[in-house]
Amino acid sequence: MNETIKSIKGRRSIRKYKDKEVPKDILEELIDCARLAPSARNAQPWEFIVITEKETLKKLGEVISTGSFVEDAAVCIVICGNLVNHHLIEDGSAATENILVAAHSLGLGACWVAGYNRTYNNKVKEILGIPGDKALVSFIPIGYPDEVTAKRATRDLKEVIHWEKY
Ligand SMILES: Cc1cc2nc3c(=O)[nH]c(=O)nc-3n(C[C@H](O)[C@H](O)[C@H](O)COP(=O)(O)O)c2cc1C
Repeated sequence: MNETIKSIKGRRSIRKYKDKEVPKDILEELIDCARLAPSARNAQPWEFIVITEKETLKKLGEVISTGSFVEDAAVCIVICGNLVNHHLIEDGSAATENILVAAHSLGLGACWVAGYNRTYNNKVKEILGIPGDKALVSFIPIGYPDEVTAKRATRDLKEVIHWEKY
């Protein structure tokens, strides 16, 4: 199978990580993949915050109710940007997926943790010093995987594909 297709199909959400650092050059590679995602009008409204300090990861894990496992990750990438750009969420989501697929292809595990319009957003902004006019899109905890995920329930190809008309 083609390597790209293999990475897309093999990616899973990983929420348990080994206690092992991810080298800085790999983190830069992930952000490089993110910033090359498609962007409406090529506005590239995104900013990427890379967090590796254990203390900050712990604080994030405490406030992100659906992502307490952030505190066990080697790193967490936070995607945010200016909502004045009406495509921030779409562009930021494309960048998020690029990171997830690239991380998987490099032997890392990651998970998309909801960031947009969540009750914990103000607390996260305070912890990370994110200006009030910025909106959060996603959190991506990353590390070397320490779990094997069970086969997931997916909607069948035949069920979701529509040829020519709905
Ligand atoms: C927009 C979005 C938000 C998500 N938020 C969370 C989250 O807050 N916490 C979490 O554990 N997983 C979250 N996920 C991961 C999904 O639960 C996961 O992708 C889904 O169960 C399918 O599993 P898979 O990624 O292994 O294919 C989110 C995924 C998306 C696309």
